[in-house]
Amino acid sequence: MAILKIARMGHPMLHQRAEAVADPTAPEIKALIADMIETMADADGAGLAAPQVHVPKRVVIFRVASQRAAEDAEDQEAEPVGLTVLVNPVVEPLTRETALGWERCLSLPGLIGAVPRYTRVRYRGVTPEGAAIEREASGFHARVIQHECDHLDDILYPMRMTDLTLFGFIEEMRGRRLTLDEPVAEAV
Ligand code: NI
Repeated sequence: MAILKIARMGHPMLHQRAEAVADPTAPEIKALIADMIETMADADGAGLAAPQVHVPKRVVIFRVASQRAAEDAEDQEAEPVGLTVLVNPVVEPLTRETALGWERCLSLPGLIGAVPRYTRVRYRGVTPEGAAIEREASGFHARVIQHECDHLDDILYPMRMTDLTLFGFIEEMRGRRLTLDEPVAEAV
């Protein structure tokens, strides 16, 4: 296992479409996922997509910690979600409703922005054991899976923003007109 270098916005790897994984159970995919888990933990992140570690494949990992779920301003009934690994994930909105919420990204260190996301989604993918996963998600859980899957299609969160006055350095953004009281410690 190894801690991998994380690509930052502007790196070509983050600006190309990632390729589907032909065999989700292949040993090199298992090794990649082990390294991604170690890298995410080292960076104190809540999610990570393979292109962020310079691998142009459709693999994402994420989790929703119990404290983050308990404080979820967008979903009062939010539940924690254990570490989830998805190969070839697909996200489908279940509503047209979007909500604005703060996001950080490990590829944009120090920055934060308010991003509109669908409030309810369904996602599917395959685990590295070859099992199918299908879940519905709301609140931060829905936000994080949309953020991670965007990484696979060369989209970074500022490209989803509709109000760039709500984008800046986290140390400077306290007191902006959208409250920063909700937890924003984890980047994805
Ligand atoms: Ni990100």
